Amino acid sequence: WGTLGHETVAWIAQSYVSSDTKDAVQTILDSKASDYMANVSTWADSFRYSDGAAWSAPLHYIDANDSPPESCSVDFNRDCGDAGCSVSAIVNYTSILLDDESKASLKLDAMRFIIHFVGDLHQPLHDEALDVGGNTINVTYDGDDTNLHHIWDTEIVEQLADGQDAEAFAKNLTAAIKAGGYGWDASTWLTGASLNDTKATAMTWASEANAYVCSDVLAAGVDAVEEGDLSGTYYTAHYDVARIQLARAGYRLGAWLNLIYTGQTGA
Ligand code: ADE
Ligand code: ZN
Ligand code: ZN
Repeated sequence: WGTLGHETVAWIAQSYVSSDTKDAVQTILDSKASDYMANVSTWADSFRYSDGAAWSAPLHYIDANDSPPESCSVDFNRDCGDAGCSVSAIVNYTSILLDDESKASLKLDAMRFIIHFVGDLHQPLHDEALDVGGNTINVTYDGDDTNLHHIWDTEIVEQLADGQDAEAFAKNLTAAIKAGGYGWDASTWLTGASLNDTKATAMTWASEANAYVCSDVLAAGVDAVEEGDLSGTYYTAHYDVARIQLARAGYRLGAWLNLIYTGQTGA
């Protein structure tokens, strides 16, 4: 996701963390700011381009090597490379946060990575290898030449938010989660989520996101998305996927942090 997406996910998570979790997260981040999670949610994107940090680039995605739109699947052994991926990163940084022996500086990075990578894991094209996660699929959006990956990271999210900032957009999504708006049933969103098998949990979330590549993102095929402007019919047909994935990411991030610091999801 782009900045608006990551900040929205973080604001949703902030509304789901218990007071004990909030204290623990604020201590690690050394921040009492009202936007304590939102304001570090894009740190991992700045970090990856800093000197000596190229190792972290593969941790933003898992390159599922199946054949969309006919066949979608994610397989850890097939798709998480030797350099790591978003799933192995979530496993690794969760264990650092759970380890009382980890140094404060290590926990700071682990917290900033977890806040970011749980978000990225929910962007369908961060769970897809085809055309570098859609980065090399040229599309037009609202008259601008861009690529399919970018419109899912940014353009669709901004059109959905309709001028609201991340805090206001998150407030609306949180209200919908609580009320079961848009047909959402959040009681199913933590099924199988467990610190006893962090890899299986992250894989469940990755597989769910990857399935949208076949059902929505590339359902019509690569050639079809390269024709015409995607801000109209394509946006209308698929924005609900971006919306539920942002909501799930925020809800799950809050619950994941609650599990780490209280042993309960808080849901
Ligand atoms: N680079 C390679 N694969 C990618 C993906 N799925 N998303 C973003 N960047 C990538
Ligand atoms: Zn992206
Ligand atoms: Zn990222």
